[in-house]
Amino acid sequence: MKYAAFLLPALAAASPVAQVVAPDGWADAPDPTKIQIVSASFSGNGCPQGSVSTTISPDKTVVTFGFDRFQTYIGPGFNPTEKTKNCQLHLNLKYPTGFQFAVVESTYHGYAQLDKGITGTFYSTYYFSQDAKATTTTQTSIAGGGIWASGQVYTKADRIPTASYIYSPCGANGILNVNNRIALTSTNSSAAGEITNDDATVAFTQQVNLMWRACK
Ligand SMILES: *[C@@H]1O[C@H](CO)[C@@H](O)[C@H](O)[C@H]1NC(C)=O
Repeated sequence: MKYAAFLLPALAAASPVAQVVAPDGWADAPDPTKIQIVSASFSGNGCPQGSVSTTISPDKTVVTFGFDRFQTYIGPGFNPTEKTKNCQLHLNLKYPTGFQFAVVESTYHGYAQLDKGITGTFYSTYYFSQDAKATTTTQTSIAGGGIWASGQVYTKADRIPTASYIYSPCGANGILNVNNRIALTSTNSSAAGEITNDDATVAFTQQVNLMWRACK
């Protein structure tokens, strides 16, 4: 596998800490005040207009999205169109000439209630518009039943190793796209499940941390 993805139940709403990590041998990050996340937009049936909040950290290296309508359902009474939803994020980024960045981590929080027989799968595909063929996709699943039958909040953390880092074009603005999809499948037509952020105390948020390297 080209990546690692971790999915853990959590007992309380997590408070993720934004971080920029510089491994040994990498260039120091440029002055964060020179990094600009120029704008952020989104598209997809999981994030209709007006349902997403976007927050950029003061140092402009972390973007946090909050989703109000990124909700999937499966089971008796639900339209089959409810079992998969996607939300693609588009980040218009400006960065100092001479540096590139790589996506290194993203973290998701949400709520899942899945009967035995239901599986929920998360896919996140990262690519730059300037090189749409170079993509990195993470995939991780929850098998229903057990603790998930009664409902749990969860944290999903993607960590993409160096070999599969995707880098922004050198010395240019870049548009980073992150296509997130949640899909529910069932082996039992009587079973039901949902993966949703529709919970008063746990927001389904995504954080994209940016890592920098010097252009060659
Ligand atoms: C199918 O799901 C229903 C509802 O969760 C459950 O009562 C039933 O035992 C399940 N059937 C099988 C064969 O697992």
